[in-house]
Order: sequence, then structure tokens, then C-alpha cells
Amino acid sequence: SGVGSIDFSTLTRQTGYTGLDYGFVNTASAKSSITYIDGDKGILRYRGYPIEQIAKNCSYLEVAWLLIYGELPTADELAGFDEQIRKHTLLHEDLKHFFSALPDNAHPMAVLSSAVAALSTYYQDHSDPANPEHVELNQIRMLAKLPVIAAYAHKKSVGQAFLYPDNSLSFVDNFLKLNFGVMSEDYEVNPVMSKALELLLILHEDHEQNASTSTVRLVGSTGANQFASVSAGIQALSGPLHGGANEAVLTMLGQIRESGQSVQRFVERVKNKEQGVKLMGFGHRVYKNYDPRAKLVKSAADEVLASLGVSDPLLDLAKELEEIALADEYFQERRLYPNVDFYTGVIYKAMGFPTRMFTVLFAIGRLPGWLAQWRELQLDPQTKIGRPQQLYVGAPERSYPGA
Ligand code: ACO
Repeated sequence: SGVGSIDFSTLTRQTGYTGLDYGFVNTASAKSSITYIDGDKGILRYRGYPIEQIAKNCSYLEVAWLLIYGELPTADELAGFDEQIRKHTLLHEDLKHFFSALPDNAHPMAVLSSAVAALSTYYQDHSDPANPEHVELNQIRMLAKLPVIAAYAHKKSVGQAFLYPDNSLSFVDNFLKLNFGVMSEDYEVNPVMSKALELLLILHEDHEQNASTSTVRLVGSTGANQFASVSAGIQALSGPLHGGANEAVLTMLGQIRESGQSVQRFVERVKNKEQGVKLMGFGHRVYKNYDPRAKLVKSAADEVLASLGVSDPLLDLAKELEEIALADEYFQERRLYPNVDFYTGVIYKAMGFPTRMFTVLFAIGRLPGWLAQWRELQLDPQTKIGRPQQLYVGAPERSYPGA
């Protein structure tokens, strides 16, 4: 509509008008044709395809291609993409020393972000954002190497040896083996786990201009390369109001269970905003309806736990929490529903991932979206360096004492 065609930078120059918009609730930072969300109706589409159809029919790499290039890949394109990624999974041997310099209890999100920044040092002569060949190659490198870095962050935290990637395996199976294999030949991928992890990764692949994607774009707008931009995006994702919520949900469920307090009592504490207690995994800036991804994750949680033969009281607790919250006026008035993170942690836990790895899994999922958005930004002729205005509310001019 008309709003999309207003050039705010010209308007600001001509009128001197500066809008103050905390949290960018009403300000678009980009034109994008990647992801569509209707938050009131609970609709999410990647490049026009409904998330429900994507989740049912696609692989992670197929969706990555779709997000980056705008169309579904042909069988040959997908096979070529997959092959390229398999070829680039190895990390430079020297990069392994990076992990040994960090404490065993290093948070894997901090490890991932800094290792991605460190990865750029191996490709500094091939990281020109204006060179399409560099951009293509670094997309492949990141898709191939981030899962390996993530698995090494996990292995480091449990004191086990790093395995080499097994390039005979699919993207997801290789990742599972790197995380849970102990010796290179000892691990058999459980197909239930593989299917469930692929679904969760797909559901996270893009979500338009969320905080981490906006970070990737802002850093990318300065001319910084993909490694720098994605490394910053990972840091933005780590916060508990964003990707870190999946870890926070499990911590919250564990605390409710351990404390012995009733779910009703916990909900009362949330409503009274006691010490800032929030119902983690609930609420969303854009969705004012049930997050369509959360619906898919919720039904997957039952299936996966049953197939893996795991029964987790935290899943029952989460369901009770949801039921009580959805029936409560506080949540209804504010249109707070479960978001994608509410049930993911229970599934990751059943798979055997430690809680601190949950947000790393989100980052692996989100990587194609970050790469697609970074690329779209570079290809948009209207792109400028991101540079918000401010409203200065400090002291007027004054003199230094004695000056
Ligand atoms: N629990 C309790 N109250 C909440 C919650 C929650 N999870 N979320 C929002 N509210 C309340 C706020 O306190 C506020 O109440 P008020 O009007 O009485 O002050 C009202 O609902 C509106 O909330 P805002 O914080 O203004 O909404 P905003 O759009 O800025 O925040 C956010 C969205 C950050 C996701 C918020 O809902 C939240 O903190 N949720 C919990 C963390 C979480 O699950 N994050 C993951 C988001 S999805 C993702 O990143 C993948």
C-alpha cells in the first residue's frame, strides 16, 4: 500500500521529522520478499508457501535454497547444493585450538558466535560482499561448517573427542552423529530423531525482521561480510527474549517442578509481575494468535517422545501451563499464546541435547534465513548503511568548569 512507497529518509530531510519508535514496533527497515507473516491470523509463509506444507514436504537444505534463491530447487540443483555442502564440512585443523582455549563451561552460544567470527580469518581474501562468487562460496561454507562448530561446542562441554564429519550422511544425520557419536564408527542415527530435528530446523529457518535477522542486516549494511554479520546475529539470538527463550522455558519448567509450587501459583506470580517473572515461550511481537510453528511443534512433541520411548513430566507440565494460561484473562487480553519455543526444549531434551545447546539448535535452523536476508540486502539497490536517528534528551551546551 501507500506506506510501502514512502521514502522516509527524504521525508526526514525535508521535514526534519524524526519518529521515535521504541522496539521498532511500527517501523519497517527493509522491503523483503522472503517471509510473510500475518500475526493476527497466525499465518507464516516462506516465499509464498505455507509453513504447514513446507514442514510436511521439504528437507532443511531444500528450504535453505528456497529462502536464498526464491524458488524451490530442481532435483539437480538440490543434489548439487547438498554435494557442495558435504564437501565443505571440514574445519581448518588449527581452528580446533580455538575450542581448547575456552573454559569447559563456556556457553555454546558464545562459542558458536566467536568461532564463526574466527572462521572468517581463514577466508579473508574471499569475503568481499560485492563479489557474487565469494558470497555463494561463503554461504556454502557457513551451512557446512556451522553445524560442525556447534557440535564441537557440545563435545567440548561434555569432555568428549571431536569427530570428523561423516560426509556419507545427510545434513541432519551428520549433525546428530557429530553430537552423539563417541567413536567415529559407533553411532547409528535414529530415524525418528533425525526426522524430528529436521522438522524443528525447518520451522526456524526464517522469520522476517526479528531481532537477530535485523542485526544481521544492520551489520551487513556496513559492508561487513557474512561471517561478521552472522556472528553478530548469533549473539542477538542468544537473549532470553529471543532465541534464548527455548533454554529459558526448560529452566522455568524445571524450577516449577522442583519448587513444588502449583502451576496455578506460578501463573499468579507471572500475572503479578513478581520480580519480572514471565511465562517464557509465551507471547510474540508479531503473533497475536497461536504461532503456527508452535502448533506443529506441539503435535511433534507427543509423537517424538512416544517414538523415542521417553516420558517426560515436563511435557505434561508445559501442557498444563498452556491450558491454564490460555483460559486466563491476563493472557487473553494481551493476546499471549505459546510461541515456537514453548515446546521445542522438551523435544531437544528427549533427543539428549543439554539445555544450553537448545539456542544453538535454533541458530543452525535460522542460518539459511540470515544468509538469505543478508543476500537480499546486498542485492537491493536501495540499501544504505543502517543508522537510526535518536531524540537527544541530555544537557544543553554547558562549559567545562574553568574553561
Ligand atoms: N509472560 C507474561 N506477560 C507477558 C509475556 C509473557 N511471556 N509476554 C508479554 N507479556 C505482557 C507484558 O508484560 C505486557 O503487559 P502490560 O501491557 O501489562 O505491560 C504485554 O504482555 C505486552 O508485552 P510486551 O513486552 O510489550 O510485548 P513485546 O512485543 O514487546 O514482547 C516478547 C514480545 C519479547 C516475545 C514477550 O512476549 C516476551 O518476553 N515473551 C517471553 C520470552 C519469549 O518467549 N521469547 C521468544 C519469542 S519468539 C522468538 O524469538 C523465537
